[in-house]
Amino acid sequence: MNRGWLAGVAVLAGLAWLVAGLMSEGASAHKGATGVVKLRMKAMSKLEKRLRPVRDMARGKRPFDAEVLRERALHTIDVAGKIPSLFPKGSNRPPTEAKPEVWKDWPGFLQKADDLEMAARRLLRADDAALPAAYAALEKACRSCHESYRAEKE
Ligand code: HEC
Repeated sequence: MNRGWLAGVAVLAGLAWLVAGLMSEGASAHKGATGVVKLRMKAMSKLEKRLRPVRDMARGKRPFDAEVLRERALHTIDVAGKIPSLFPKGSNRPPTEAKPEVWKDWPGFLQKADDLEMAARRLLRADDAALPAAYAALEKACRSCHESYRAEKE
């Protein structure tokens, strides 16, 4: 095998990967976000993605899997606990979708983070039969905070 040819392929593959990464970054809502704003956007997106299999289980589109449910519920509890530190004072700079109400009504915001944790704890205890209601309560906890504290730009 020709070494020069192999190195060329490796460089091209690297470039393709870089370009793909840049394009997906440009297309996302995180564009231009830095520091803690970027961090919390990523944490929220990851939370949503990681809960997708749980949603599918709750809707009967995927067989019940106690292990996946447990792992995703624990992840949600973990993120809920980090919400206060992901929204430090003064971090309402563009392109954030966080409303000023987060800081104007900090106790109310913290309550919503607690509600999320409670809903995730219920999810953690749910069996197959209890999952649909527990998942609906979790979605409600997400929505309820977004309604008051997030200005959706999509
Ligand atoms: C305590 C309030 C609160 C709770 C609870 C909450 N969120 Fe959020 N979420 C926010 C705020 C505020 C933003 C906007 C953050 C920003 O743009 O700086 C946000 C943004 C998002 C985003 C967009 C992230 C991006 O890429 O810009 C997604 C997706 C999301 N949340 C999903 C969820 C899901 C799923 C749940 C429930 C499992 C949830 N959130 C629970 C407050 C909350």
